[in-house]
Amino acid sequence: MQRIILDCDPGVDDALALMLALAAPEKIDLAGVTTVAGNVPLESTTGNARGLLALAGRADIPVHAGCARPLMRAVGHRSIMHGTEGLGGVRLEPDTVPLGSAHAVDFIIDTVMANPSAITLCPIGPLTNMALAMVKEPRLADNIREIVFMGGAAFGPGNTTAAAEFNIYVDPHAAHIVLSSGVKLTMFGLDVTRTVVVDQEYLKALETSAGHIRRKLALMLRAYAKGDPCLHDPCVIAWLIDPSLFSGTDAFVEVDCATGPNHGRTIAHVSERHRAGREPNCHVVTGAAKENVLELLSRHLSRLEPQT
Ligand code: BDR
Ligand code: CA
Repeated sequence: MQRIILDCDPGVDDALALMLALAAPEKIDLAGVTTVAGNVPLESTTGNARGLLALAGRADIPVHAGCARPLMRAVGHRSIMHGTEGLGGVRLEPDTVPLGSAHAVDFIIDTVMANPSAITLCPIGPLTNMALAMVKEPRLADNIREIVFMGGAAFGPGNTTAAAEFNIYVDPHAAHIVLSSGVKLTMFGLDVTRTVVVDQEYLKALETSAGHIRRKLALMLRAYAKGDPCLHDPCVIAWLIDPSLFSGTDAFVEVDCATGPNHGRTIAHVSERHRAGREPNCHVVTGAAKENVLELLSRHLSRLEPQT
């Protein structure tokens, strides 16, 4: 059993990741959801997180809003993949799920420090909240169990620029703080998430399923998949549920924060020669049993609505 905080910017694939986490209570204990500006502005990512928990009937899970901008830019880059409000044009009702009064950074610090070495942090948006929490509480890194994140492209091209993946491109300085924190890290970059792709058949099955939660998710996914059919963020949660579906390699990963064409690029040094004395700081996931991951997602989503 892993006790996690999901730090997200919903986002259609974030929505699926959140639902998957809720659907695996024997493996995942969701201590809270924190939000960050990313795909869409913070107000929308926070409203979407609350709306999704309301849809799942989980008003008991606290939502805490975090950073509205990256560390070094006044306004972050936004994604065009998720629609203007983030859920592919689907509107949810957030009001039944209360917004926690603490800032996400303080919620993360308080939860981790109260449960030393017990909390896994799962950021699936820009890493701003993670980095700021580490800066605010210098003892934080030593008390986090591990961080499993979606971000970067270790060995291939980006999806936002030729060099950079979206989450890292939005806040590369935050990514640098996390990558150099010494915390045990597992990276789900585009190397693996690009291989976990939904097709028409999968969408149809979700659309015609009996449950109202799955049909809402299908509506979101149908709009999102026109631009990006990859299930990036759910891979993080699928790995927590069944790591045997994935494979990877240890590497020293760093991020290019310089202005220029490589801004936000993640570079993975694997061989001893390339690491040049630097120890691996990250387990980079590179492979997935795609069909099994999709099947795991379907099977768990159906558990959210056992009555249908
Ligand atoms: C990442 O960027 C966002 O658009 C997705 O939600 C995912 O976290 C993929 O590059
Ligand atoms: Ca995301």
